[in-house]
Amino acid sequence: MTDIKEIAVENLDSGQAERELERLAKIIAHHDKLYHADDAPEITDAEYDFLRIRNDQIEERFPLLIRADSPSKKVGSLPNSGFRKVNHQRPMLSLDNAFNSEDVYDFAARIKRFLNLQGESRIEFLAEPKIDGLSAALRYEKGIFVQGLTRGDGKTGEDITENLKTIDQIPLNLKGTGWPDILEVRGEVYMAKDDFLALNKSQVEKGKPAFANPRNAAAGSLRQLDSRITKSRALNFFAYSWGEVSSSLGETQRQAIDFFKTWGFTINDLVLVSDNVDEIINHYEYISQQRSKLPYDIDGVVYKVNRLDYQDRLGMVARAPRWAIAHKFPAEKAQTTLNSVDYQVGRTGAITPVARLEPVTVGGVVVSNATLHNADEIERLGIKIGDEVIIQRAGDVIPQVVSVANSAEGNKPIKFPKVCPSCASLLIREGDDVVWRCSGGLICPAQRVERLRHFVSRNAFDIDGLGNKQIEFFFNEGMISSPADIFRLQAADEAGKGPSLKDREGWGELSVSNLWRAINDRRTISMDRFLYSLGIRHLGQQNARLMCLNYLTIENFIENIRQATDKEGEAYARLLSIDGIGEKVADAIIDFFAEPHNIEVLDDLLTQVRVDEFIPPDTGDSKIAGKVVVFTGKLEKLSRQEAKASAENMGAKVSSSVSAKTDILVAGPGAGSKLKKAKEIGIEILSEEEWLQLI
Ligand code: IVH
Repeated sequence: MTDIKEIAVENLDSGQAERELERLAKIIAHHDKLYHADDAPEITDAEYDFLRIRNDQIEERFPLLIRADSPSKKVGSLPNSGFRKVNHQRPMLSLDNAFNSEDVYDFAARIKRFLNLQGESRIEFLAEPKIDGLSAALRYEKGIFVQGLTRGDGKTGEDITENLKTIDQIPLNLKGTGWPDILEVRGEVYMAKDDFLALNKSQVEKGKPAFANPRNAAAGSLRQLDSRITKSRALNFFAYSWGEVSSSLGETQRQAIDFFKTWGFTINDLVLVSDNVDEIINHYEYISQQRSKLPYDIDGVVYKVNRLDYQDRLGMVARAPRWAIAHKFPAEKAQTTLNSVDYQVGRTGAITPVARLEPVTVGGVVVSNATLHNADEIERLGIKIGDEVIIQRAGDVIPQVVSVANSAEGNKPIKFPKVCPSCASLLIREGDDVVWRCSGGLICPAQRVERLRHFVSRNAFDIDGLGNKQIEFFFNEGMISSPADIFRLQAADEAGKGPSLKDREGWGELSVSNLWRAINDRRTISMDRFLYSLGIRHLGQQNARLMCLNYLTIENFIENIRQATDKEGEAYARLLSIDGIGEKVADAIIDFFAEPHNIEVLDDLLTQVRVDEFIPPDTGDSKIAGKVVVFTGKLEKLSRQEAKASAENMGAKVSSSVSAKTDILVAGPGAGSKLKKAKEIGIEILSEEEWLQLI
């Protein structure tokens, strides 16, 4: 039998990995002691590094197996707490994208509309490169760097203070004067192209894996539990934004980043401020030309509204500010051969053709699959098996086939299937839908697996260690067929029905007990995650949140939706009156609850998990929190959109129709039937001016 320590990391199964991590923990601790305490090392640095790297690589493959006494949690022989999760004081946002000049003009026009600025007044924008690195938030208290976090999911990041302290461009003490007592500077950590090449060269010389691109190298360097490794890597930091501040940073974005510079940060020097959209687009063109000559990777240009009071008024939508946009560079392209086409069945039965390609490198990443979207797209491309095709990949999106470069005589046409590749049910398409769907519904195994995958995914139940592979395994083994089964897995396993999980291939004692822990951790869940996890069509994260805001508890929500099946009734009208919920979404939600099987699955799940009541966002002492507000007529100062956003930010619900549930009607000139109805019912009526006073 091969000794486990001879087996390459990628070939280890989970049982072997568990034993190997145990061995490595012991032996590394032994050598640590010899080196640090006894000052009498028995192995060379390279041999020691090899052990630690092997340990790190196994942990990366099997995160569930990380031991409490793992060497990766220690710096030398000093214990280190690992990365603590910390909530951001203000969320770290992402950016919406613009892919062409048209999108940029739209962005500028949108902003003018929102701010209700008339034709002539101009808005200043600041344009600067979008750095392809990792964002970090640096907290200074009285000028001293006290905490540094990763972005994480935007709400919660990881505490990487010690690692950030090793970066020269991050001041430990702010220079100059005038900084707020509390100042959270945000920006991008990145590795310069030259340093990346040098690092990879040395990695390869040491027999270590090379990084795919500077961004990965920066991420790998920053996420080291041993900050000495981070220190040995050349990392840089550009400051471009901020989170919590205890006093103002000036009137404009430009002033704020200039302050950053005087306080000791590096800001990018390709910054342009202009009130002319054509000029900022020219700046984008200029930066694209410079791109290959810049010492660091960039993936676009960011435009920001320069005035900070405008930024405040514009606020954010979903997870991105309304006042900024990233103008992305065109996707990178490559040519390769189409070997075959497979068909994937999605959660709602949608069939997606997937191109299997001769592997090719695009923008530093090997691509062997690309989406063909749907049957119409295949026809539009006129693509055949064996064709030379052009594919493109942009950022994190799935690579796509964009065109056919060469098609040889005799290449085989692609035959889109008539039946589902998973359950053989007929494929159908409704109305003008371009997507073919499996009609098998609940009997289709592929759809059921996809739903379970969605259920445990990151924005839903987010169960660690229950990834796509494990879900498929449990489903194929008949151990889970509906979400509630996940929460019965442990009991079933312990009751000794069938072989014990820990003895099965790919599992070990530790990975099993970690899995039980991860599952049990999710027996209480927030209402928005819960609703999203159900996989109801058109009920994405944003709509799930709207449901929470309006119904507050899962019981109340279910009750209301059940009543809403009566389309003449009040419950249906109430659902439709929620701003942002149209008929398509409303009907999809109602249809879901009209299907008896879904109710069974849901009731069963509710025997296993508790759904927290939704707590509306902290709106301070807002006088309108929880109130239902309707706007009608013409508003003079605010755009309709800003009026709505400001009401929602203060915890009110905005509705599009007046009913007995309405608390306030804000009526401008020209208000008609809504005003009449409100007067009849006796609802509080405010002018725009009065509304502004109130908020
Ligand atoms: S501003 C509230 N400016 O891009 C606005 N972001 O896609 C926050 N990024 O998470 C971002 N360069 O990591 C801004 N000059 C720049 C940037 C930049 C890179 C990153 C940042 C953000 C991501 C969004």
